[in-house]
Amino acid sequence: MKNFEYYAPTHVVFGTNAVEKIGELVRAQGCKKVLIHYGGGSAKRSGLLDRVSAALEQAGVAAVQLGGVVPNPRLSLVREGIALCKKEGVDFILAVGGGSVIDSSKAIAYGIANDCDVWEFYAKRQVPQACAPVGAVLTIAAAGSEMSNSSVITNEDGWLKRGLSSELSRCKFAVMDPTLTYTLPAYQTASGASDILMHTMERYFTQVDTLPLTDSIAEGLLRSVMHDVRAALDNPEDYDARAGLMWASSLSHNGLTGCGTDGGDWSCHQLEHELGGKYDIAHGAGLCAVWSSWARTVMPANPARFAKFAVNVMGVEPGADDVETANRGIDAMEAFFASIGMPTRIGQMGIDLSEEDMRELAYKCSFMNTRKIGRFVPLDQQAIYEVYKRARA
Ligand code: NZQ
Ligand code: ZN
Repeated sequence: MKNFEYYAPTHVVFGTNAVEKIGELVRAQGCKKVLIHYGGGSAKRSGLLDRVSAALEQAGVAAVQLGGVVPNPRLSLVREGIALCKKEGVDFILAVGGGSVIDSSKAIAYGIANDCDVWEFYAKRQVPQACAPVGAVLTIAAAGSEMSNSSVITNEDGWLKRGLSSELSRCKFAVMDPTLTYTLPAYQTASGASDILMHTMERYFTQVDTLPLTDSIAEGLLRSVMHDVRAALDNPEDYDARAGLMWASSLSHNGLTGCGTDGGDWSCHQLEHELGGKYDIAHGAGLCAVWSSWARTVMPANPARFAKFAVNVMGVEPGADDVETANRGIDAMEAFFASIGMPTRIGQMGIDLSEEDMRELAYKCSFMNTRKIGRFVPLDQQAIYEVYKRARA
C-alpha cells in the first residue's frame, strides 16, 4: 500500500429535519452576509428554499439569493455570482442543491477571495491562494461535492468542462436529509447512484498494492449502493435506501475509498467531462456510457484486479482463468447499469458521434495532445479516441 493523507473536515449533519440546524450552522461561521445559491427550480418547488431563508432570518443572518444553476454549471453564472457577492458584501456561500450548485458555489467562493478571473484556476494557469467559506444543503446523492475538494465548471466559450481540486474549497458543513431526495426523478436517482459507484471504482481500479481494509470498504460500498438504488427506484420514499445513497455519495468521494492507493485512475471522468461539456448530458449517465468500453480496453493490463471486482462486488462465478472472470464482471456491471435505465453506449444518449467529433473529443480530452489520462493504463490521444469509438454505439 501507499502512504496517504486523509482530510475530511466537513461537519456533517445527517437525518430527517437536519435542515432545522441550518440557522445555527451558518451563524457559527461568523459571517456578515450569505449568498443562498440554488438551481433550476426543484428547491423552490419543494419549499426547501423558503425553509432555509426562514431559518437564516430567524438566526439573524442577512442573505441574498441567486438561482439558475444548471447541470454542468456555467462560468457565466459563476461570474454573475461573484459580481453580486462583491456588490452585496457576501462572505459565505450556502449551496442549496446538488453537485452543480455546490460546484458553482465553490467557484464563486474562489472568485470573491482572489483578484484574478476565476477561470484562470480551472484552466490551470494559476493556483488559488484562498477560498471563501462554503456550506451545503444537499438535495441529490451523486457527485459527492459536499465533502470533496473538487468543483467542475463549464466555460461556454469553447464548451470546456474543467475541474479544480484544492483543499481550500471543502465545505465547512453539509446538511443531509435523505427525505429531500424523495422528489428526484428516477433518471437522476440512477445517474447519481452511478456517479457514486464510479467515484469508488475509479479509485478501486489501480495497479498498486492496496490496503485490504480499503478494498473491503470499497467493495461493501459498491454492493450497498447497487442494492439501495434498486430499492429507491422501486420506492422513491424508502428512507433507508435514500439514506444509504446519500451517505455513500459523501464517502465515495471524500477520499475514504482510496486510502493507501495511488489516487485512482479517473479516465472515465475525463472522458465524460468532454462529453458533458459539449453535449450537456447528466454526468453519471455519461460515465456509464463509457465505462465498459474503458474497462474492456484496459482489463488485459491486470485481469486479476478485474476478477477480484467480479467476484467480490458483482458476485459472479469465477471462470476458467482471471480473464474470463474479469469479462464476466464487466458484463455484469454493464447489465446492472442497463437495468437501472442508464446508457452503456454514447449513442444511447441521442448522440451520434461522427469521426470528426471523436477526434475533437480526444484532442480536447488529451489537452490538445499534451497529456495522457488515467493510471491503470495511461491513455494518449489515440487511445482516448479508440475508447470513444468503442463506446460510440
Ligand atoms: O436544478 P434543479 O431544479 O434543482 O434540478 C436538479 C438537476 O436538474 C435535479 N435535482 C436536484 N435535487 C433534486 C432535483 N430534482 C428533484 N428533487 C431534488 N431533490 O437534479 C438534476 C441534477 O442536479 P445536479 O446538481 O447537476 O446533479 P449532480 O449532483 O449529479 O451534479 C453533477 C455535476 O457535478 C459534477 C458533474 O460533472 C456535474 O457537473 N461533479 C462534481 C464533482 C465534485 N465537485 O467533486 C465530482 C463529480 O465527479 C462530478 O464531476
Ligand atoms: Zn463523478
